Amino acid sequence: MEANYNIPYETLISEHDLQNRIKELGRQISTDYAGQDLLLLCILKGGVLFLTDLMRQLSIPHEIDFLAVSSYGKEVRESTGVVRILKDLDEPIAGRNVLIVEDIVDTGHTLTYITNILRARQPGSLKICTLLDKKERRQVNIPVDYIGFTIPDKFVFGYGLDLDEKLRNLPFIAVATQ
Ligand code: IMP
Ligand code: MG
Repeated sequence: MEANYNIPYETLISEHDLQNRIKELGRQISTDYAGQDLLLLCILKGGVLFLTDLMRQLSIPHEIDFLAVSSYGKEVRESTGVVRILKDLDEPIAGRNVLIVEDIVDTGHTLTYITNILRARQPGSLKICTLLDKKERRQVNIPVDYIGFTIPDKFVFGYGLDLDEKLRNLPFIAVATQ
């Protein structure tokens, strides 16, 4: 348990384990997309820390873009599947190899909605890389191509993920202890 924050929490995935796994993902993605165009599409805001660390582990040329959606309101911690685009991509993705970089897949509703929108823009390929996967919570089947860690059904925060918009800066994944 750490001090200085209002709620007690403990480390679920350490900074060391995160960075090691991201190194492996970077190597894998660099191999899989070698010699090809690659656009990393980060879902704001939760995916930003993961994106910036993942980029530094890629040995191949790539570009980045950002998509912001409202997954659900501040009060509700349950995905509704109703997603609003708050910030769209800067550039068209037609014909490009798009790799979505997401913090966590929970029910799967958000990514299902996002991939439907993106597919209509006819990318050359569309894959998903998520840092965390809460597999047992899945309500819609969505194929995830790269998974950092599969985690239990607990609300987590840190490393980009927020607890009521705070604590995104923690360099590790935390879980509340009460
Ligand atoms: P889904 O539509 O249920 O898959 O929700 C995915 C989104 O819900 C993620 O992009 C996160 O923003 C948010 N989310 C789901 N579980 C957690 C969690 O444990 N901590 C923080 N955010 C979460
Ligand atoms: Mg998110």
